[in-house]
Amino acid sequence: MVVTCIEDLREIARHKVPRMFFDYAESGSYAEETLHANRRDLEAILLRQKILVDVSKRSTATQILGKPVSVPLALAPIGLCGMQRGNGEILAAKAAAKAGIPFCLSTMSVCSIEDVAEEVSEPFWFQLYVMRDRKFIRALVERASAAKCSALVLTVDLQVLGQRHRDIKNGLSVPPKMKIANLIDIATKPGWIISVLRAKRRNFGNSVGHVQGVGDNTSLAEWTNSQFDPALNWEDVKWIRSIWKGPLILKGILDVDDAKLATEHGADAIVVSNHGGRQLDGAPSSIWALPKIAEAVGNKVEVLFDGGVRSGQDVMRALALGAKACMIGRAYIYGLGARGEEGVGEAIGFIRRELETTMALTGVNKISEIGPQVIAR
Ligand code: GLV
Repeated sequence: MVVTCIEDLREIARHKVPRMFFDYAESGSYAEETLHANRRDLEAILLRQKILVDVSKRSTATQILGKPVSVPLALAPIGLCGMQRGNGEILAAKAAAKAGIPFCLSTMSVCSIEDVAEEVSEPFWFQLYVMRDRKFIRALVERASAAKCSALVLTVDLQVLGQRHRDIKNGLSVPPKMKIANLIDIATKPGWIISVLRAKRRNFGNSVGHVQGVGDNTSLAEWTNSQFDPALNWEDVKWIRSIWKGPLILKGILDVDDAKLATEHGADAIVVSNHGGRQLDGAPSSIWALPKIAEAVGNKVEVLFDGGVRSGQDVMRALALGAKACMIGRAYIYGLGARGEEGVGEAIGFIRRELETTMALTGVNKISEIGPQVIAR
């Protein structure tokens, strides 16, 4: 199959990744209204074609948090990334390093912070969930610091888990529960079996051996309900700010007042995000929320964006509405499931080249020139 876009990678991944893990990445919560709104609202934004501008010297290079990037993208934190393909986090981090963009490791990753730091020389971001066991959280922040992580991404929209129906129906657990249906499905994915058998781990690498009650066969819902802290509040953000000295990014902001509070609490950046439509179903799309938030915070913090980004055109839309850069989640997970490290590189490359062409056709040479003028009104 000739692969030319993210959708092609998705199609390959759908055949290569066991259904319970493909569905895990794919799903939104409940009726998936917000999941669909993310795509629908992006697609509704029309780009303004601009002709006869000299675009021979254009470049997608820019900076995120003062660090140069080849394209305004970062790989979003993805739980169970290493179940899309064995050692998935290491493969994705390597691809991101090669492409010159940041990789963000999830608290709920399979490979641990140390596993990734050992294999990848480029510094990466670490995403933190604040769990009930604050000693464990403090230790996790220290581990991220020891691994020279270049930013801490504190996710603030998952005190409780939005239900994803398919995860429950598929009996999602780590490692996979060997129900007959899962066994039959997995048996048809030999490449996946080999990669996972060869991998360093098949469980939650950051927690197993560090937190009590996290054994080998933990369902995602059980794990989350027992570990995550519904009492989380802004005081905890203050605490994290006080124990983490590097750049702090608050991820999961969808409201103007919350965005202002984030700046008051010392965030260096925020991610306008509804967790890929996986948490509050019925929430607005991320792109709907973006312009109001960007306007409200001005240049007090860097505004990053995620939610439905599948192309360079989408990156252009988000930048036009006030984002400094985008995070991609599913878009790279499809590449990973399809072709491992190479597939992640392809996913980033597709988006970069699409952005470059979109810049040309909207008459833009530099990322910093992208603004509301590229939107057709
Ligand atoms: C965890 O971050 C999830 O969305 O499943």
